[in-house]
Amino acid sequence: MAILSCSANGKNHSFKPGELWPDNNGVHINAHGGGILFEKGKYYWFGEHKTEGEKGNVANVGVHCYSSKDLYNWKDEGIALSVAPEGSGSDIERGCILERPKVIYNEKTKKYVMYFHLEPKGAGYTGALSGIAVSDKVCGPYQYLKAVRPNAGYWAVNYPDELKEKSSKAEGLRFPGDRLPEHPDSMNIVKRDFGKGQMARDMNLFVDEDGTAYHIYSSEENSTLHIAQLTDDYLNYTGKYARFFIGRFMEAPALFKKDGKYYLMMSGCTGWAPNAARSAVADSIFGKWKELGNPCVGEDADLTFHSQSTYILPVQGHPGKFIYLGDRWTPENAIDGRYIWLPVEFEGNRFVIRWKEEWRLE
Ligand code: DGJ
Repeated sequence: MAILSCSANGKNHSFKPGELWPDNNGVHINAHGGGILFEKGKYYWFGEHKTEGEKGNVANVGVHCYSSKDLYNWKDEGIALSVAPEGSGSDIERGCILERPKVIYNEKTKKYVMYFHLEPKGAGYTGALSGIAVSDKVCGPYQYLKAVRPNAGYWAVNYPDELKEKSSKAEGLRFPGDRLPEHPDSMNIVKRDFGKGQMARDMNLFVDEDGTAYHIYSSEENSTLHIAQLTDDYLNYTGKYARFFIGRFMEAPALFKKDGKYYLMMSGCTGWAPNAARSAVADSIFGKWKELGNPCVGEDADLTFHSQSTYILPVQGHPGKFIYLGDRWTPENAIDGRYIWLPVEFEGNRFVIRWKEEWRLE
């Protein structure tokens, strides 16, 4: 397995955003586009395993898992979900695109459930599928279940009735290539995808205090964000979903909750290149969402400190304390991608993120 070695000089005692981050074996952590699950006193970090020289997001290995008690020092727990062998014909065959994996735990079924953005091999980004895998053990192995387009046959709860009647002008068009209009509703992409299910690319999961889980994903050719409720076992969609930030082209959504309010951080849509982040707040997960602007402040704030959001982590035992987790992508050699972890601060009705060369939780 390809590795990126970095000197293991004992333990890590702080966060050093952008630097190589050695795991327990002195190897740079390989969990990009990741997310974290806290369970029985330990954090588990799941992310895309990248390989040396890999240019984009081709999945050659699968989803890597690490564990930690203090968030600075991470133990390599191996590959939680492996891609299927080349030629197997599986949806997750080696060479597919498997992005932004996230894991949640289902109290009722006692299963760990992983969602990820899946693009089957050889079809670029046209699949826009949600991959779902499940395991009895937190670090896996995860068993791949299926890949779906969410909510086939359902209208979003906030979809205008008049659009349900109107025909879709997006039928047969190919994006990118054909230009998307400023307002995607003039194309009626939701109606185009009504039968086969809505597109789901950049994504995250969020479990609310009542145990209800939600999938948040860039949909409608990336133009609009969807928030979709999952069934009690977290393995399906209930058909209840809503659309937000129509035509704002948001990627990399990360949702968190503080003092009864829901917050979202997202990026714009510029491929691997960083852009200015966006943020929003709502009293209810199904809206109304109010945009709060770029949460980053200071030098390079307009480039999210050369990163893109992947998760906002609530720090256990410290209510109200959150960490921004971002990726500094290096598409020319994907394994060298760096992690930008920064404290989330709250000012008035918004949250802000400031650059720090090195910092500790306290
Ligand atoms: C930006 C997305 O956030 C990434 O997950 C990845 O899909 C790249 N675009 C691909 O260009």
